[in-house]
Amino acid sequence: MEPDPDIQTVPKGFRCKLCDVNIPNEPSLEAHMKGKKHQHLCRLRAKRKAQEENSVYVSGFKPDTSTSELAEYFQQFGPVAEVIVDKERSLYAIVEFAESASTEATLAQLQHCLDGLKLRVKPRERKEFKLASKEKHDRTKPHISLEKLNHELCLTSSVNEQMQKMVEIFQLSENDSKARQLVVQLLQEVLVEFLPDCQIVPFGSSVNTFGSHSCDLDLVLDLENTKAFQNRTRKSEQMGENQSEDGQSEDSILSDIDLATASPAELLELVAAILRKCTPGVHKVQTVSSARLPVVKFSHRQLSLQGDITINNRLAVRNTRFLQLCSGLDSRVRPLVYSVRFWAKQKQIAGNPSGGGPLLNNYALTLLVLFYLQTVSPPVLPSVEQLKNMACEEEECVIDGWDCTFPSQPISVPPSKNTDDLCTLLFGFFTYYSKFDFPGSVVSLRAGCTLPITEFLSRDDETPDTAESSDAARQKTTVRPKLGPVNILDPFELHHNVAGNITERTHKNLRREFCEAEKYCRSLQYQRKSSKGKSWGLVKLFTPRVEGVSSSQDAIEKIPEIIIPFRAAILTQSFRTELSSAAETFRVVWFKKVCSILEVVFNDILKCTPSDQVEISQDQTKAKGDTEEEEVNNNQSLDSSSHQPTAHAGIKRPLSIEEGPSSSSSPQGKRMRLEPSADYPEVAHWNWTQTHPVWAGRRKIRRVLLKTSDETSKPEGGCSSIESRVTQYIIENDSNPKDKLDFQLDALVVGSDECTKAVLKFKETSDPTGHFQDFFHFLDSFLPKMVETLLAKSE
Ligand code: UTP
Repeated sequence: MEPDPDIQTVPKGFRCKLCDVNIPNEPSLEAHMKGKKHQHLCRLRAKRKAQEENSVYVSGFKPDTSTSELAEYFQQFGPVAEVIVDKERSLYAIVEFAESASTEATLAQLQHCLDGLKLRVKPRERKEFKLASKEKHDRTKPHISLEKLNHELCLTSSVNEQMQKMVEIFQLSENDSKARQLVVQLLQEVLVEFLPDCQIVPFGSSVNTFGSHSCDLDLVLDLENTKAFQNRTRKSEQMGENQSEDGQSEDSILSDIDLATASPAELLELVAAILRKCTPGVHKVQTVSSARLPVVKFSHRQLSLQGDITINNRLAVRNTRFLQLCSGLDSRVRPLVYSVRFWAKQKQIAGNPSGGGPLLNNYALTLLVLFYLQTVSPPVLPSVEQLKNMACEEEECVIDGWDCTFPSQPISVPPSKNTDDLCTLLFGFFTYYSKFDFPGSVVSLRAGCTLPITEFLSRDDETPDTAESSDAARQKTTVRPKLGPVNILDPFELHHNVAGNITERTHKNLRREFCEAEKYCRSLQYQRKSSKGKSWGLVKLFTPRVEGVSSSQDAIEKIPEIIIPFRAAILTQSFRTELSSAAETFRVVWFKKVCSILEVVFNDILKCTPSDQVEISQDQTKAKGDTEEEEVNNNQSLDSSSHQPTAHAGIKRPLSIEEGPSSSSSPQGKRMRLEPSADYPEVAHWNWTQTHPVWAGRRKIRRVLLKTSDETSKPEGGCSSIESRVTQYIIENDSNPKDKLDFQLDALVVGSDECTKAVLKFKETSDPTGHFQDFFHFLDSFLPKMVETLLAKSE
């Protein structure tokens, strides 16, 4: 194979120069090269190359020459795709043609003249493709190298000092703040020309005291006063006057749009047009309407700043004030937030580079730190509800129906009695979240404690009609936050899960990093400065995560164990309601459902038979006659099994309660019941036999069967009837059905002090032909998806 010029062999594996990452081994390298990021950059590089080849560099024109004049002139050589003029001084332009032949024709002409001036036209400079744009967009990228940072941190004498140093190094400098103020002022001056009385208000990290050198400038364009202005003007126009009472006339832009009825997308396009055409220094203006809150993104060339403008987002301005307040309440808040943010960035669990993405956003991460400080004993920070009670009447604040009241000044809040130092608090932060049941609970800064997930399962998910609902009514309307693997309620907008974007994968990484950090913080290497010049304290904690390297936690997961995570979001409403009424025993109810589904999967879909011959007889006959009708019956048995798993053969008994007083035999005397009131951990146990290689060639058989049926294509494990047919096909075509594999399965439910999940432990009990690994490998990807599919249908 030809060596790839992007890949370099380095002592610890490989380096992809294109993506700027280290890769530890060949399998990871292969995965990396097929991965989205690498493929995207390859395409981007090819596109840039084509653009360079199709472009010429032009200079020598008059400074007031417009892009359209240049385009018109160069049109004679072929269609012009784009003309970019150096905005500051109009000294040069890049003219990009749609085809490379036009470039050649342009360069072949010896002389070019425009407006009586001789133009200089040359090939566009070819630049090596670098991840320059990523660097610019990398919002928390340190302005010092990691080596320099480590050096600075090692010079200190304690973790406490290191954490203070983090603030010193990363906080916004006076110049950073001034640059931001300048942009705010500039935008205010320009926008008010077109949108009278509007206000540009900064929020987010530029002003919340947690900002870093390269963070974005988040801005709200508040159009409430402009709306009022428009109303006044329209009224006075109707009365035959052409000026509003305050003497201002409605600008032409405002006469084109009705602010009261315009959609956010229309408003954003308007703002984007003003930025593009009338705001000096502003470029790369882009509207993103698909975001939860649509934004206009822009850059400021001279000040090297990137910004986002959202419209009327008053809640964000208010929650920024809340973060400022928390930061002012205790001097330990900022060092903790800066250290945690940097750690999370290094471990690739927070800080989505361009806004949206599957990682925690910095706001959510900051809320996790503040929440921990509310729950530590004694608390460092009060809950939002307590803060509300400390506010005076003038500080009352309700935005969009949400109570956002808290004191404006830290002085109104009594100081914390907690005396832990920073080093202890950071350790405590990792310990707290390494044992946290993210999927089974909801973080509430409002209450200052976790709320059971069951409180959010049975609610109505209709969004209140803002026009109709009064503020109080809206507060009371039971709007449901989008539940996911991580649930952090916004302190004010109580139906918004600020971590609603988190994927299972990020959640898994998050948990792993919390556990790793907790383990490291227990060591002396964290707590004490090394006398031998080795890295210590934060330095080791900030080691970047290397793509593809498995941690010790991953290694543990390699034992034959499969996890079925609790995912509230996929459950049917009726099952959610049932879980909700089970309150704190919801895990048992959910686990029993999982157990009954496991029986369906092993008995009916994968056609395993119970190992015990006495137990098998009846059910084996039943399994063999599997039809569509039976499939329905299976699902019905799931429905009716929510309080008591069906008594299929194979399930022997739940181990945890098998000797206990509450255990009772099923009518067949083969299994014990799971009692909802039983203590954790609940355990169930099965012995199965598989006589056919139901894992072998499944994907191919599925594809073939799908071609000859009316079923629409579903992923592996996405449809029980297809999977049953695939198994049936394998069994019918198995020429050697004697390769018997016996295995046992222990299932248990865990939660509360770790993530709610069912842990399935497999063990081969007889495997003469050595098939167990293949079977387990198949189950590892098939089973979670299959169980999820059946759970999602289960009433
Ligand atoms: P970010 O997550 O960008 O946080 O949200 P940040 O502190 O500005 O960090 P950088 O910019 O990544 O360094 C910016 C602001 O958006 C609002 C909050 O006001 C937050 O401070 N926000 C964000 C919400 O109101 N809700 C959300 O779910 C996310």
